[in-house]
Amino acid sequence: MSTSRTSMHGEWSGRFAFILAATGSAVGLGNIWKFPYITGENGGGAFVLVYLICIACIGIPIMMAEVMLGRRGRQSPINTMRDLAEEVGASKHWKYLGWAGVIAGLLILSYYSVIAGWALAYVFRTASGVFTNVTGDGASSLFSRFVADPEKLLAWHTIFMVMTMAVVARGVKGGLEKAVRFLMPTLFVILIILLGYAMNLGEFSRGVVFLFNPDFSKISASGVLTAMGHAFFTLSLGMGAIMVYGSYLPKNVSIAKTSIIIALMDTLVALVAGLIIFPIVFANGLEPGSGPGLIFQTLPIAFGHMPGGTFFGTLFFILLVFAAWTSSISLIEPAVAWLVENRGHTRIYAAVIMGVVTWLLGLLTILSFNLWSDFKPLSSISAFENSTIFDLLDYLTANIMLPIGGLLIAVFAGWVMKRETTMQELSINDVMHKGYRAWQILVRYVAPAAVVIVFLKVTGIFDIATIFEAIFG
Ligand code: PFF
Repeated sequence: MSTSRTSMHGEWSGRFAFILAATGSAVGLGNIWKFPYITGENGGGAFVLVYLICIACIGIPIMMAEVMLGRRGRQSPINTMRDLAEEVGASKHWKYLGWAGVIAGLLILSYYSVIAGWALAYVFRTASGVFTNVTGDGASSLFSRFVADPEKLLAWHTIFMVMTMAVVARGVKGGLEKAVRFLMPTLFVILIILLGYAMNLGEFSRGVVFLFNPDFSKISASGVLTAMGHAFFTLSLGMGAIMVYGSYLPKNVSIAKTSIIIALMDTLVALVAGLIIFPIVFANGLEPGSGPGLIFQTLPIAFGHMPGGTFFGTLFFILLVFAAWTSSISLIEPAVAWLVENRGHTRIYAAVIMGVVTWLLGLLTILSFNLWSDFKPLSSISAFENSTIFDLLDYLTANIMLPIGGLLIAVFAGWVMKRETTMQELSINDVMHKGYRAWQILVRYVAPAAVVIVFLKVTGIFDIATIFEAIFG
């Protein structure tokens, strides 16, 4: 049994590079664009609490599992799953889990890149000073006019896809690692500056209360699914991104410690983003539940009225682009690695092919905001009555594909792989047995059960309240 595969794509130069790259993958639009608006839509504190519980009990153990599978298999998720299944004599169909991940990654990137394009556009808009003294209506109409113009969205989406392809084409050390080494530290510095600004706004405590004071009457079953789906999305889990990054991880690095560090940093960035955005929202009488446009419609008002707003606003959108960039390279990497391994293409060629496929898919999202904004393909189902293609893509990937992918990864790591193998990969020695046991319980029982229960609950098949009533009267 081989435990010493090497990756044909190279390796990270060490533990720090891996932490940066994986944190770069995790920290993205999910933390800064999506987390605030879905928190706003789902009422704040209770949603945040469910999300934090999902990160701790489902996210961290599955992240360890994904990194472990990647490092053991040392290939793209498709080939890794195939070989690891073969190693234990399990069904070779496990490779389809890798396929599902590759598809999920391209689907996510197709809309991710469009939103990242908005952020790019807003760097230049903010820098040009158009938001100086802008009113609420003014900011909203600037945003609506912008998204109503498919050509503009297409141009920015194209630029962002080219940026992504350029990094991925350069490979693991020369492209991915170099990019995150520069981008991640810059991102942290900008965040700290913006937090300092928000703390002096006067409405900081309202932001804190909104984020951390749970009111359970405000959260529904579908809110719980959104929180769980977001835990997968924000940690880049369930589709092989972290698995493929794990496949470039040097042998001696501790998987448990690095996974915990990555999850903590990701959570910290999301909470800090919330602590920056909500005080600005409240200080300006804005609406926390205004959807995907939240940061683009509301923050410019704030930036337009504060001293140095042009500067801070520009910094903010640069930050958002950086964060999106380091995530998007991980969304496409599983597909690119597979093309290189199985088709013998160069990285450049593979990056261009996958980039073009994703770029084309992105047209669906672009049109969802303008020419096709009235096209609601599933309007006959009440839950999706108002969902555009973009909404459906987001729902399909974040709320369905990633949790199912994560569930299967947990099952594979917990039940299919041999105990000795997982213990060896996680470098378990005598003192760490308790930790290993805890991880095993989480991947074997807790994470799969949680995903299944939330799904059943959303589909209405399973109602926890009824069961509690039945048991406790
Ligand atoms: N984690 C990224 C974010 O929060 O923006 C998005 C993402 C990257 C999701 C990679 C999934 C993934 F595999």
